[in-house]
Amino acid sequence: MRQATLPWEGVAKLNPILQKASWMESGDIRPYVFVRPENSIANPGARHQLDWFIHEPIYKNPLSLDELPFAEHIYDIEGKAFGPSNMAMPRWVFYDCSVVPGFVAGFACRTSKLPAAFRAILPERPGCEWTPLSLFIIIPSMHKGEWVAHNLCTINSLVKDKSDQLYGLGFLSKAFGLWYANVEQCTGFTQWGSPALKLHSHFGYLEVVGAYAPVHSHAETITYRANISTACWEKFFTREEDMAFLENYEPTEIMIDPREQKSMIDLQRKIERHEGPFYLNASEIAGKDLSEKLTIYRPKKIF
Ligand SMILES: CC(C)(COP(=O)(O)OP(=O)(O)OC[C@H]1O[C@@H](n2cnc3c(N)ncnc32)[C@H](O)[C@@H]1OP(=O)(O)O)[C@@H](O)C(=O)NCCC(=O)NCCS
Repeated sequence: MRQATLPWEGVAKLNPILQKASWMESGDIRPYVFVRPENSIANPGARHQLDWFIHEPIYKNPLSLDELPFAEHIYDIEGKAFGPSNMAMPRWVFYDCSVVPGFVAGFACRTSKLPAAFRAILPERPGCEWTPLSLFIIIPSMHKGEWVAHNLCTINSLVKDKSDQLYGLGFLSKAFGLWYANVEQCTGFTQWGSPALKLHSHFGYLEVVGAYAPVHSHAETITYRANISTACWEKFFTREEDMAFLENYEPTEIMIDPREQKSMIDLQRKIERHEGPFYLNASEIAGKDLSEKLTIYRPKKIF
């Protein structure tokens, strides 16, 4: 069933929250969906009430030979963003684990309108009307309603001067993908101390389901799960304290020190002994430097 009015049909006014991300307004930067036709989402945006994405997405088919330059741009951004941490995505991973089972979402800029700072990073590719600036890869899992966030990166991380960045590009790329695909629950992973944690913690209360992952190539990886709720998304921009979180969750004495592996292993053991569930506080993460210790929270007991 298709919802009556899609947000990009007739909506002209940008939510005031997105004033910090005014680059969304003109239409020269638009969301994109890179998905094979069989995987296309039936009722995009039907689950979460949100009026942020005012322009119709650009649709691309990753299996079409004509779209190879678009895919090559994605590889460029991804390779440069993850190269330094030795996690650049091999091409077969993109194919086998991303575009065949799931899809890629993000924002793309009309190539003729690319700012000089971005043009300097991306090689010229003739025939590309739109150039991707970010990517969020998400894959459905065997657990009904749960999707796995596999990759998130943006061109912002490759631009030295902050004034050349598009504020919120990473956050909004993930927000768009979750909203578009009606994602109910999202599991993902990142490294403790990563700036990405500041983004991931704002899509729904973030439960730590794994605090240490030696099976991963980077053992100091947090695995998280969030029940997606747009109620807390705008706090990424406003930096408002989430009173509902504080009313329902309390700090424990457990801290994660991103520089101390033992703190991760200790929490992992507690999770395995079913002493949780354990959560992170988005407001606390937003206010801290990446190397600072993070408090672990748990649901308050209701008497
Ligand atoms: C992490 C990443 C996706 C963030 O995307 P982005 O487009 O730079 O970030 P956004 O514009 O959406 O959000 C900006 C906010 O993110 C946080 N942030 C982004 N980069 C940061 C950094 N290097 N250090 C600290 N905070 C950072 C800040 O909270 C910032 O807001 P503020 O300046 O008001 O404090 C991007 O930096 C990236 O691609 N990094 C390399 C790949 C990577 O590590 N991906 C995450 C794997 S899960």
